[in-house]
Amino acid sequence: MKNNDFNGNHDCNSDCNCILEQSPSKIILFGEHAVVDGYPAISMAIDLKTHGTIKKLESKKIKVNLEDLNEEIEINIETEEEIRNFLSLDINTIDKNVKYVVCAIKNTLNYLNENTNPDVNINDLIVPFELTLHSETPVSCGLGSSASAVLTTIKLVSKLLGSELLVRLLPSEDFTSLSNLEMAEIAYSVEKEIQGRASITDTYTVSMGGILEITNNEYDPNNLNNKFVEFIKTCNFLIVYVEERSRKTAELVQEVGNNSKKDEIFSKIGEIILKLKTCNDKVEFGNLMVQNHNLLKELNISTEKIDQVIELGSKYGLGAKLTGAGGGGCAIILLDDDSLHKKELIDNLKKISVKGIFECKMYLES
Ligand code: PMV
Repeated sequence: MKNNDFNGNHDCNSDCNCILEQSPSKIILFGEHAVVDGYPAISMAIDLKTHGTIKKLESKKIKVNLEDLNEEIEINIETEEEIRNFLSLDINTIDKNVKYVVCAIKNTLNYLNENTNPDVNINDLIVPFELTLHSETPVSCGLGSSASAVLTTIKLVSKLLGSELLVRLLPSEDFTSLSNLEMAEIAYSVEKEIQGRASITDTYTVSMGGILEITNNEYDPNNLNNKFVEFIKTCNFLIVYVEERSRKTAELVQEVGNNSKKDEIFSKIGEIILKLKTCNDKVEFGNLMVQNHNLLKELNISTEKIDQVIELGSKYGLGAKLTGAGGGGCAIILLDDDSLHKKELIDNLKKISVKGIFECKMYLES
């Protein structure tokens, strides 16, 4: 655990005595699917966030309230046996919509339990609470809303229990806050437990913030040079939620995995990323996006409507590509600096009835 002391502040400025937290979502700028086979990908945290609150409860329960999905769940933690059952819960027995958040609570509690003072009894660690989440992005469309909800949950639970531990066990020298890397690891453990096969892309991107290169399912903070990162900070993107996905990420990953041309295509995507890393020109950046998109088209994961959006993005912006697993979902467009072009672009996107349009920039974790 990180060695800066846990301050246990209750951030909520209302009377509710809750703690507030937020986490970014993400876009994959280049290299989706290729990353699953160990090829590089470039992903970026974006300033569309999941917001959450947590507050202590009197009743011996954990309550979860997912506002966007209209879902509520209660977990009994009255007895030590109930707590232990929850900590060893088989997550796949839970309803799919709340799985990610429940698993994030479980894995955070387990992590804290394993990493705090061994003299702390599990009953002292866990306090009843109510956790509520709300996302600025649509869910299940490739913007990392699950990873963002998972990370917000980890932040909230560790913050509440951390402050509780200090209150109950002072003087405690052992409890400190979780680092971004620890939170990324817990978040990835959640995705792996639920999905089986997953790359670290979503969870590490939302946890570390900024822009990341992932290769061989690892991330090296020194892989991207500062000049390139500074250049990307000057880029403005439009995210277009084009249409609902017809297939889930896991199905699309499997389909692409069976494509006989995949290695040839993934190598070409790798070459695009190599060029990208020395790019500091928006026109070139936009062209590289379109090249990556055309390779994704060869993998049959684009749709007619996404391709229409890519054409509009290339005409009124500097370039575009689908982002995420495909089969519907979202596209990203690199904007130029002319506000008239942006207006024309948005008008034309509305004409083809896309489901949502969001402007975004890189999000940096503080
Ligand atoms: O689920 P999405 O749309 O965020 O896509 C994930 C990106 C993939 O490369 C297709 C899968 C992965 O685990 O990296």
